[in-house]
Amino acid sequence: VSSLPFLGSGMGYRRELAAQQLAAADRIDVLEILVDHFLSESSMDELERVSQRFPLVLHGVGLSIGSVPLDRGYLRAVRRVSDVSRAPYYSEHLAVTRVPGIDLGHLTPVWFTRETLRRVIDNVHRVQETLGKPVVLENIATLLEIPGAQLGQPEFFRELVEATGCGVLLDVENLHLNAENHHFDPEAFLAEMPLESVVQIHTAGHVAVPGGTAEIASAKSSATGGQAVDGLSLDRHCAPVPEPVWALLDRVLERAPVKAIVLERDVDFPEDFEELLADVERARQSLAATHA
Ligand SMILES: [Fe+2]
Repeated sequence: VSSLPFLGSGMGYRRELAAQQLAAADRIDVLEILVDHFLSESSMDELERVSQRFPLVLHGVGLSIGSVPLDRGYLRAVRRVSDVSRAPYYSEHLAVTRVPGIDLGHLTPVWFTRETLRRVIDNVHRVQETLGKPVVLENIATLLEIPGAQLGQPEFFRELVEATGCGVLLDVENLHLNAENHHFDPEAFLAEMPLESVVQIHTAGHVAVPGGTAEIASAKSSATGGQAVDGLSLDRHCAPVPEPVWALLDRVLERAPVKAIVLERDVDFPEDFEELLADVERARQSLAATHA
């Protein structure tokens, strides 16, 4: 992944924003395509059009890299998107979204065990061979940590990178949320991560839920062994990037050879598109400052 091209600062392509993104093409270095929005063959014309205006990177949610076996039909559709987009790499989440016969409809953490690591290594090899390009895996936001882990998440990422040559998509908002919700120091997490393999960063804004919803609070309380729950922050891609996330971004950029920063926004689109462009510009300046 060290030979991947430098791409700059951009945002996720969303059909609701497409006209504004196109009009602001000179202020967006790269667009991230959500593979799951382009699984049908009929969407290839749209993808081709977007690829003629912007350098693209790919991001998926439905591969379920932690599952055995991988869904062959899904992987074939990803390959079509990958070929048409001419994206230099394909990112997914280090997560499970599917078990045989059931689509969970949600990013669920993998169990950090040696056996899971072996499965994910096999899957990453298979996907990289199928697509002919590197896989880049993202740290997800989680409301619970599966007990009985044999490895910490950074160690899991490190061994995965060493075994497959894959890259890391470091979502600094997810790291910030996990650190808040699970009470750990994000610096300690970064110190153990294979930062030299970070290819891309995600930024986003979240929503704070004082006390959390009853269901989440009780799930979290049991996952933390009954500790008091004092509110939760949920990863909803719904707001401007908050200051602690910008600070975390700068700390990562000091140490990682980042090629692209992508702003994620999925709901509550602002009336003024300039608000999103301002976050893209700030990320570009952070990137330029560290590259300088
Ligand atoms: Fe993300």
